[in-house]
Amino acid sequence: MAKDKTAFFCKECGAESAKWLGQCPACKAWDSMVEAPREKKKSAPAGYANPFRRSTPVPLGAISTEDEKRLPSGMGELDRVLGGGIVAGSLVLASGDPGIGKSTLLLQMCRNLSSNGTKVLYVSGEESLRQVKLRANRIGEFTDSLLFLAENNIDSVRESMLESHPEVVIIDSIQTMLLPELDSPAGSITQVKEITSFLLRLAKEEEISVFIVGHVTKEGSVAGPRMLEHMVDTVLYFEGDTTTPYRILRAVKNRFGSTNEIGVFSMERCGLVEVENPSEQMLSGMPVDEPGSVITVTLEGTRPILVEVQALVCKTNFNFPKRTAAGTDSNRVNLLLAVLEKRLGIGLSGCDAYVNVAGGMRVTEPALDLGVVLAILSGYANKALASHTVAFGEIGLIGEIRSVPQAMLRVKEAAKLGYKTCILPKIDADKLTELPKGVRIIGVSNVRDLKKVLSES
Ligand code: TYD
Ligand code: MG
Repeated sequence: MAKDKTAFFCKECGAESAKWLGQCPACKAWDSMVEAPREKKKSAPAGYANPFRRSTPVPLGAISTEDEKRLPSGMGELDRVLGGGIVAGSLVLASGDPGIGKSTLLLQMCRNLSSNGTKVLYVSGEESLRQVKLRANRIGEFTDSLLFLAENNIDSVRESMLESHPEVVIIDSIQTMLLPELDSPAGSITQVKEITSFLLRLAKEEEISVFIVGHVTKEGSVAGPRMLEHMVDTVLYFEGDTTTPYRILRAVKNRFGSTNEIGVFSMERCGLVEVENPSEQMLSGMPVDEPGSVITVTLEGTRPILVEVQALVCKTNFNFPKRTAAGTDSNRVNLLLAVLEKRLGIGLSGCDAYVNVAGGMRVTEPALDLGVVLAILSGYANKALASHTVAFGEIGLIGEIRSVPQAMLRVKEAAKLGYKTCILPKIDADKLTELPKGVRIIGVSNVRDLKKVLSES
């Protein structure tokens, strides 16, 4: 390609530079510049350029503050994450690893919407209509208010949108769409950026809610959805371990609601099923009164969820001990092992330690610390904690047990599921009032207190 026809674009933020740079000057990302054709300013293609309707300045008092029009998606968990339903004219980016279930979630949403008579258009640039139909067959019956289109050209998509006037449109995925006026290939930074701003204008002007699917790619020249996050109204992340059925939907940005909410789903044979009580699901199949198993209460957004932490501690056969952590941060587990070794003087340096958050959830909240430490101590001493006990709290390097947010909410969730004893930071325990009936609280302020708790179990 002739030199002046190409430029370097940052994969993260889209900044342009005439020459290659090791670090993006705009967003400071390293090794993020890729070469792509420079776009010439062309004469406006019909209906694309200058689609803005002229707006006039208005005083604040003249702006209506009525609630936005919202459409229930038919899935409580999704509505919760969206902040109470789909906002008319909003642009939502749904992203996540390939195969996590983005297309399935959106197709199920379309099915619910169309069964209530809402007009929906599902544009697939990735799969053929036959593939979409095969997926749809697993999910259930569909009505005719849901239309499918296999198309990559965004101009044709726009025409179909203007013809059929849907209320909700799905673009699966943004990386496969193409604006033919641009020279760069589908999935390139310029294409992704231009198509998103094109869809944004279309969404706002026609009051159509548009959901775009974006793949997360760590490497390669495909523009990551990072850059899109600034442009869209809402960013949803669908995450989970594909080896377990649980999927968590999280809003990392939401102009129309809180980003604290999560939705929990389980991927079954016939699509995603909402999990209304995640704690029960996380604890199913849990061992009873076994050493090395401790229940803790973690907070996902505003939702308390009970999870089981397991630890296996055994004498090492290696020169240096082996430590692994699944479902949580392994550095944090190493740090907690060091705290226990130093503050309690127990010989963990001669032991292998394996820590696992059972149930397939990933927890990185500091309140998990107390659960991990108790599981390690219980596994090391081969002594089970008293049954129906939960523990949560953050542990500092001095061995102190520090306060965690929303202690009461966690205690209530534990009580709801029949747990009788809660071990928590003393500072939080002292503040609790109006405890649920039959719940015993044990306040601990240092890891030294834990030996006593375990010996009394
Ligand atoms: P998909 O929605 O295609 O993922 P994405 O769009 O995020 O790439 O879902 C892919 C996985 O989900 C696939 O491995 C099969 C599985 N799946 C089920 O287990 N049950 C179902 O009913 C469906 C439709 C998919
Ligand atoms: Mg897909």
